[in-house]
Amino acid sequence: MALDFQHSPVLEQETLEHLHLLPGATIVDGTLGGGGHAEAILEATSPDGRLIGIDLDPDARSAARTRLARFGDRLQVVPGSFRDLDRILAQLDIDQVDGVLLDLGVSSYQIDSSERGFRFAVEGAEDTPLDMRMDPEVGEPASALLRSATANQLQLWFQEYGELPGSKRLARAIVETRKQDPIRTAADLLRVIESAGIGRGRKHSPATLVFQALRIAVNDELNALREGLDAAIRVLRPGGRLVVIAYHSLEDRIVKQTLRDAAKGCTCPPRTPVCICGGQITLRVITRRPVQPSDDEVKRNPRARSGRLRAAERVETAKSGGTDKSGGRAESGGVAA
Ligand SMILES: C[S@@+](CC[C@H](N)C(=O)[O-])C[C@H]1O[C@@H](n2cnc3c(N)ncnc32)[C@H](O)[C@@H]1O
Repeated sequence: MALDFQHSPVLEQETLEHLHLLPGATIVDGTLGGGGHAEAILEATSPDGRLIGIDLDPDARSAARTRLARFGDRLQVVPGSFRDLDRILAQLDIDQVDGVLLDLGVSSYQIDSSERGFRFAVEGAEDTPLDMRMDPEVGEPASALLRSATANQLQLWFQEYGELPGSKRLARAIVETRKQDPIRTAADLLRVIESAGIGRGRKHSPATLVFQALRIAVNDELNALREGLDAAIRVLRPGGRLVVIAYHSLEDRIVKQTLRDAAKGCTCPPRTPVCICGGQITLRVITRRPVQPSDDEVKRNPRARSGRLRAAERVETAKSGGTDKSGGRAESGGVAA
């Protein structure tokens, strides 16, 4: 397969600033992609900074290896999911790192490669198989889920992962259609969406929401994100930085909540007089609000439009609320960077 991996790193300068990079730093890029952010990080940590680049996608890893070859053994490319980040680092004998970057979602390359099935453009849809796996060797493609999932399961995915109006109608239409014909290609699915008559006149086309929901289900993306954030917090040294770029509200909500909880420590219900969860403060949030791409960047790279960057710094672990939860010892948010 040709490795013409075109992907402009989103919020590149802002990522570098928030990672607070110094020469010699060890950084994990949990979503290596074509290596755009990784290249900038390796340059900023010259001459001896180290980067561990993780990606599920073999094409991405191969493209990144080629692009970053000049950095020699300062770069280690590892196959796998960022949800296993701490296990991956343990295998490399690394206890703690200075920074972790997660630039979520799919790359432009994945969207543009029709054989990967992430694309729902009408043009070429007849030849676009419904796959959507980040790692084409692991798990089941979207077409298999559309064949085997119950109507209830499908409805839940469309509701929760796509926030799709008409989820029930679409789930039923899929179950009816597959009794006659398998739903194998993007064109097959677009026809079912059309026949279900959902989402007309909404801001987001129903196809965008349906494809997003399926992709999230196929790759178990939201659970991977929750686990990846927890793993990242565990591997950061005190003072180390976590930077996450999310591209839709479901992801951004998880990032915001996880950072907020980690900065608060205690997650007991508000009226609990004494902390019983034992939660510890592990982060200081740096971005009170998410950082968004400038108009200039969006003009240059329209796919950056929905990017939202949030960053936090690992702190020495400290007990949160103590015995008196009204004492306000927990840090509740951050300072603007
Ligand atoms: C937006 S792209 C990253 C682009 C990269 N920052 C660059 O500048 O080239 C997201 C990448 O994350 C990968 N990915 C998505 N989920 C992953 C996961 N759970 N673990 C590892 N990689 C993942 C995708 O395969 C894709 O290559």
